[in-house]
Amino acid sequence: MTLQHKRQLPFLLTSMGATLLAVATAMAAEPASRPAGAPNSAPAVDQHGLTIKDAYKNHFLIGMAGDLSGRYSDEELGLVKEHFDIVTPENCMKPAPIHPSQDAWRFERPDALVEWCADNNLAIFGHTLVWHAQTNDWFFRDGDKAAVTQRMKDHIGTLVGRYKGKIQGWDVVNEAINDGGNAETAQTENLRNSPWLRAMGPEFLTLAFKFAHEADPDAKLYYNDYGIEAGPKHASSMVLLKRLLKDGVPIHGVGIQGHWSTGRIPYVALDKAISDYASLGLEVSITELDVTIRGASGGQFGRGFRGRGFNVTPPSSEDLKAQADAYARLFSIFIKHKDVIPRVTFWGLSDRRTWRFGQHPLILDSNNQRKPAYAAIVDAVQQRRMD
Ligand code: G3I
Repeated sequence: MTLQHKRQLPFLLTSMGATLLAVATAMAAEPASRPAGAPNSAPAVDQHGLTIKDAYKNHFLIGMAGDLSGRYSDEELGLVKEHFDIVTPENCMKPAPIHPSQDAWRFERPDALVEWCADNNLAIFGHTLVWHAQTNDWFFRDGDKAAVTQRMKDHIGTLVGRYKGKIQGWDVVNEAINDGGNAETAQTENLRNSPWLRAMGPEFLTLAFKFAHEADPDAKLYYNDYGIEAGPKHASSMVLLKRLLKDGVPIHGVGIQGHWSTGRIPYVALDKAISDYASLGLEVSITELDVTIRGASGGQFGRGFRGRGFNVTPPSSEDLKAQADAYARLFSIFIKHKDVIPRVTFWGLSDRRTWRFGQHPLILDSNNQRKPAYAAIVDAVQQRRMD
């Protein structure tokens, strides 16, 4: 086992369930035959009405995540073009896959994604430059602060520079704040004990944004995290963002990832969190939206359906209705804040192309059909126009 694998153990392979989840996510990235027991499309949903991207064209961009285009079917690529304005590379631009060792870069898939999106008139949002996960050990090995800082600078400069002018913005720092927290940590940034923090101290965030801005001064630069809309983690995110802004860091937005679960969405806190971030002069995007019908929520990799994913139970019509209501309520909040929200991105394409396979979290089902949630989201904006 390599050092890197040991480092990733806590995040990737903490349980048998996580192992199965990794296989499922690989399925999400690479098509297999349709899973047995995949839910049928809900017959009540009009499959040919107004598309979500057209319904929201005066509000914000609608995005999807995926490592386009090679391993997607023509039907799936057609769906991307039909329903979405902007693509986030789900994995292929993360540090580990794109920059596996100091002297090795893997640009084939990212280049193909950028070319396909340009050919098909889709914008791109980059993900992600500095993260505690999916980052190989070479960044930190035998390096003092100066050496690690130089490696970060080279990584960001090369990657952001390569796609300068072709990528709208970047999730510069991903998930730097600890989960949970309490009244005491809420007063602090409560930064995760990551290799970046250990090597560079809290300044790692400042420098990451600075290097990204130097490489592409026109790119929108984001801090991206899950669970920052509520509780002590939200308070910590405000402490962190205020520090960055006070220090003149070139940060333009906050990404609320939005990995939620039907019935457990903090709507009131979310509404307030968007206002809080906007009060700092930052834009807010929903960057990784999915709303599961069953199982865990949250953005932590490894917290999934705990090994039940291949026994895919189709959602009941009640499940689909509850999920549709949840999505409609979320989008009514996003519409309310449309002046500060430039983008809402779903984390995947369909209930087959999702890291939460088996939990039916997206708005197209496993057979690429629009779900009740799709219709409810389109209705939410049409309803507003009639009010
Ligand atoms: O590409 C390799 C493939 O070559 C190999 O054969 C296969 C074997 O398992 O693994 C493939 O890589 C997997 C990759 O997904 C693509 O399928 C990785 O093992 C797997 O760890 C990776 O999981 C991704 C996870 O981040 C970790 O990077 C998920 O797809 C992706 O949806 C998830 O996304 C994160 C966001 O970046 C940040 N926020 C939370 C979100 C969910 O965890």
